[in-house]
Amino acid sequence: MKRLDGKVCLITGAAQGIGLATALKFAREGASVVVCDVQQAGVDAAVAQCEALGATATGFVIDVTQREMVDAVVAQVTARFGRIDVLVNNAGITQDARLQKMTLEQFDRVIDVNLRGVFHCAQAVVNTMTAQGSGVILNASSVVGIYGNFGQTNYAASKFGVIGFTKTWSRELGPKGIRVNAVAPGFIATPILSTIPDKVITEMEQRVPLGRLGQPEEIANVYAFLASDEASYINGTVIEVSGGMSV
Ligand SMILES: NC(=O)c1ccc[n+]([C@@H]2O[C@H](COP(=O)([O-])OP(=O)(O)OC[C@H]3O[C@@H](n4cnc5c(N)ncnc54)[C@H](O)[C@@H]3O)[C@@H](O)[C@H]2O)c1
Repeated sequence: MKRLDGKVCLITGAAQGIGLATALKFAREGASVVVCDVQQAGVDAAVAQCEALGATATGFVIDVTQREMVDAVVAQVTARFGRIDVLVNNAGITQDARLQKMTLEQFDRVIDVNLRGVFHCAQAVVNTMTAQGSGVILNASSVVGIYGNFGQTNYAASKFGVIGFTKTWSRELGPKGIRVNAVAPGFIATPILSTIPDKVITEMEQRVPLGRLGQPEEIANVYAFLASDEASYINGTVIEVSGGMSV
């Protein structure tokens, strides 16, 4: 018996990075995986990789800021599988600038994807999960959503906001059998770090007691645990996965 046998799991931002690692981990754990991302080629590749692991997988090109797209995908998934057990709200972006330099476009775009997108997806699946009497919603926060970070006014606000969603929904949905938790990764080696200079990456590594960046699989492992029935009494919490960065 695998950890996610029989569970239908929808993962946003699953074309690369942590989302892709999560899709593959869930596939190995027996889930039916629904890969969602804005990148068509990445969606196709992720679905193929999940299928190569023996999983049932399907993909959708979707922008989480577009509510009609989100609703259409959820309707198709529910029609095909009859249920949605797990939503991983992983899609997220950065557009960094110091407070004095941040444009309204940068502010709005990050809030739109990282905060409104999470709201769209959760609201779209909640009726299905409520009707089932079970479900798991996992939200991607960040250490930046706990401690803040230089140059990330918009991103920090969105990731603090995701923790607010998590606490609120865990209260609202717990009585309906739905668990809601957040994961707060530290510095993880994915394409999202590609704009950061090597010198800054080295400084980041030095701040971590384990002396290195995390790997996407190390976040995927935590999502898999939280998605599984092994985490049946974990609700409304934020799990920091940062190699002890904040100690
Ligand atoms: N890598 C890190 O160090 C780190 C740390 C803390 C939190 N996180 C969070 O983890 C999540 C994944 O990060 P990552 O490092 O894998 O990032 P990434 O940039 O490698 O991957 C993000 C994925 O989201 C997709 N995406 C972007 N906008 C989208 C939209 N509007 N609709 C649908 N999909 C969209 C992208 O196409 C991409 O495939 C993000 O929410 C990020 O904020 C990452």
